[in-house]
Amino acid sequence: MILSPSLLSADTGRLAAELADLEAAGIAWAHWDVMDGRFVPNITFGQHVIRSLRPASRLFFDVHLMIVEPERYLEAFHAAGADMLVVHAEATAHLQRTLAEIRRLGMRAGVALNPATPLCVLDHVLDDADMVLLMSVNPGFGGQSFLPSTYAKLARLREMLGRRETLIQIDGGVTPENTGELVRAGADVLVSGSSFFGNPPYEARRLAFERAAD
Ligand code: DX5
Ligand code: ZN
Repeated sequence: MILSPSLLSADTGRLAAELADLEAAGIAWAHWDVMDGRFVPNITFGQHVIRSLRPASRLFFDVHLMIVEPERYLEAFHAAGADMLVVHAEATAHLQRTLAEIRRLGMRAGVALNPATPLCVLDHVLDDADMVLLMSVNPGFGGQSFLPSTYAKLARLREMLGRRETLIQIDGGVTPENTGELVRAGADVLVSGSSFFGNPPYEARRLAFERAAD
């Protein structure tokens, strides 16, 4: 299980120090929630913030784009230092082309689905994605409650992927309490914002998630 703490719940005024603390706590990934105020109601940070923090961290930058027409910004986030770009299927008219372009630029490509979006939108892009992100809350805010309908969707996605090495990421309301069931159902990467950052120290919190995943 890979734990990807969502920086949305970190102390935004001291992001460089937060990234260093994550690294010191044995964390490997950092999840950046980019929001545009259109695809979701909230606005967070963009490519300039990520770019300014890139030299401060060796963490794998997992960038979740909650923006309309993400295809317009792929180059910008690549230049900013993203290792993986995750786009919402609901936000782009040309999902296959967008995923292929992310890979062509040298990044890993991910596709995200809102809770109400059916898995069949993935039918013809399964080989174009390195990761599928299932939203387990409606995106836009940290600290929301996990939607239990995610479990059945996750099990079904695991079946659909067959022998592919595609990662499955779950995002929204993830805690050590639901981690075990998510990992057993086939989740590979868990995003946690409020439950992770709200319960320091970070190394102990990482261990709590890892123990729950065993
Ligand atoms: C929600 C974001 C999530 C969020 C998770 O729109 O995509 O990554 O930060 O936060 P928690 O873990 O607090 O639900
Ligand atoms: Zn996210």
